[in-house]
Amino acid sequence: MLGNLKPQAPDKILALMGEFKADPRQGKIDLGVGVYKDATGHTPIMRAVRAAESRMLETETTKTYAGLAGEPEFQKAMAELILGDGYKAETTAALATVGGTGAIRQALELARMANPDLRVFVSDPTWPNHISIMNFMGLPQVSYRYFDTDTRGVDFEAMKADISDAKKGDVVLLHGCCHNPTGANLTLEQWAEVAAILEKTGATPLIDLAYQGFGDGLEEDAAGTRLIASRIPEVLIAASCSKNFGIYRERTGCLLALCTDKATKDLAQGAMAFLNRQTYSFPPFHGAKIVSTILTDADLRADWMAELEEVRGGMLKLREQLARELRDLSGSDRFGFIAEHRGMFSRLGATPEQVARMKEDFGIYMVGDSRLNIAGLNESTIPVLARAIIEAGV
Ligand SMILES: Cc1ncc(COP(=O)(O)O)c(C=O)c1O
Repeated sequence: MLGNLKPQAPDKILALMGEFKADPRQGKIDLGVGVYKDATGHTPIMRAVRAAESRMLETETTKTYAGLAGEPEFQKAMAELILGDGYKAETTAALATVGGTGAIRQALELARMANPDLRVFVSDPTWPNHISIMNFMGLPQVSYRYFDTDTRGVDFEAMKADISDAKKGDVVLLHGCCHNPTGANLTLEQWAEVAAILEKTGATPLIDLAYQGFGDGLEEDAAGTRLIASRIPEVLIAASCSKNFGIYRERTGCLLALCTDKATKDLAQGAMAFLNRQTYSFPPFHGAKIVSTILTDADLRADWMAELEEVRGGMLKLREQLARELRDLSGSDRFGFIAEHRGMFSRLGATPEQVARMKEDFGIYMVGDSRLNIAGLNESTIPVLARAIIEAGV
């Protein structure tokens, strides 16, 4: 039976990681996989995470099953982190999931349970896993234009025109902040215009919030999501704790379903717990407990916020340095977008040939669509990348 399986195309980013590892050159630079790295190339355990884990080790007395939808303490802490004062417990259903990916999958399953004819509007480009999950689920997709390849900013007029075609019962998938792979983001004024379109069409937003705290700050990065939540009656939010808590391998995420009334919230809550039961039963506990321990303890929370700010500030500095080096080398401002983009990624706008040339001639690895991970750089590798970009003719 298993011999009938078809070979699966390898994940492009994971394949690139393998190629990078096998490259014997000294001075090679990995700008591929979407993981935060410090200046030494290490992905550290955050101080507050370590402290929360030692506290858990001392105080936990059992490893028995916990909540099917996650622990209420985690659900509440996450909902408050994301929604701030806009969190309404009465009408918000919440689910602990296997990472942000699990939250996206459960959100799509939930939407399809509610509407078997579901269509999903998705940005072009988007995180490739969005597309492959939806393809695997057999979900019809409508892509909306998002990135302006000339300015490397958001093509907002095109985006508005395309999402205006959505109808009640459709889902519009939006990146809450730090758009992956482009790094180009909506302003708050643009979020307000998106809200107006959603109000008019009646479509349901699904906001993928994987990088809260990596762009302009914890509050600022949630501002678009909060604005949508304040205006649109039903909103789905799929959040990841992988990046902002640095707990990638703990697989921690959360799905929120904001509803109009308590009866709908109870229906959604029941369906969400059911979805967990059908896929993996109880969600992972450890990472969720780390997160709720940090968020509910004033000292740990303050330390986590301070370290997250260091991470964010470090990435901004790298962006500014790279944009400066490129301005000096090119004698133009055409790379200014790198300092404007936010989050871990920027799409450079290089051709596949130019990306290949940077790999072959300079040992610089970035994703084929020219997405580069800013956190893969440090002060001394930036001049190398800047020279490679210019010499490759970008
Ligand atoms: C846009 C986006 N959404 C969701 C995720 C999911 O992250 P995870 O499942 O590791 O929590 C990622 C991770 O790279 C991402 O970039």
